[in-house]
Amino acid sequence: MLVILISGRGSNMQALVEAGLPVAAVVSNRADAPGLQFARSRNIEAAVVEHRKFASREAFDDALAKEIDRHRPRLVALAGFMRVLTPKFVARYERRMFNIHPSLLPAFPGLETHARALAAGVKLHGCTAHFVTAELDSGPIVIQAALPVRSGETADQLAARVLEREHVIYPQAARWFLDDKLVIQNGVVRVKGDDAQLVMAAD
Ligand code: GRF
Repeated sequence: MLVILISGRGSNMQALVEAGLPVAAVVSNRADAPGLQFARSRNIEAAVVEHRKFASREAFDDALAKEIDRHRPRLVALAGFMRVLTPKFVARYERRMFNIHPSLLPAFPGLETHARALAAGVKLHGCTAHFVTAELDSGPIVIQAALPVRSGETADQLAARVLEREHVIYPQAARWFLDDKLVIQNGVVRVKGDDAQLVMAAD
């Protein structure tokens, strides 16, 4: 089972659900996250733990962990979850928490990845599903999808093409995890059976 954390739209959460993965619950730090509606429409438990209501990051993370642990998930999947997590929270879910990030890490951690990729003039861009570690958008890489940047495209157009690939690689990463296929050695993830950890999208 997995628990998915969202803050907004939740299209990656939706992709995980639609891939048939066993989703125990969806938790949002915002009551108005549109993704909550989708979860409820699929009869998936959708909880809200509002960060605004807590005096400190630690207090929020403790409440979040309590909500997650009720479901005893094997995997926690961050899916557009826009809060920086405390080291204690990250340690609690060490090696069992994933994130999906819209760039080819380690390039462009953080926000505005598509605009930054265009500004840097990179010719290849994409997305990364990775294990979460205390450092933001770092952590062992499970799978990446890469696509050629088109000349003249806008950040929004690029984002839309990357998002499509996110919806492919995130469910794949979660399935590998739940099937016990992932091995981490010296910070590098290998898939038992050597399934491809890079998806190249044709232009
Ligand atoms: C995605 O681009 C994801 O990579 C990033 O935040 C965005 C969330 O989109 N972490 P959604 O809420 O999954 O639609």
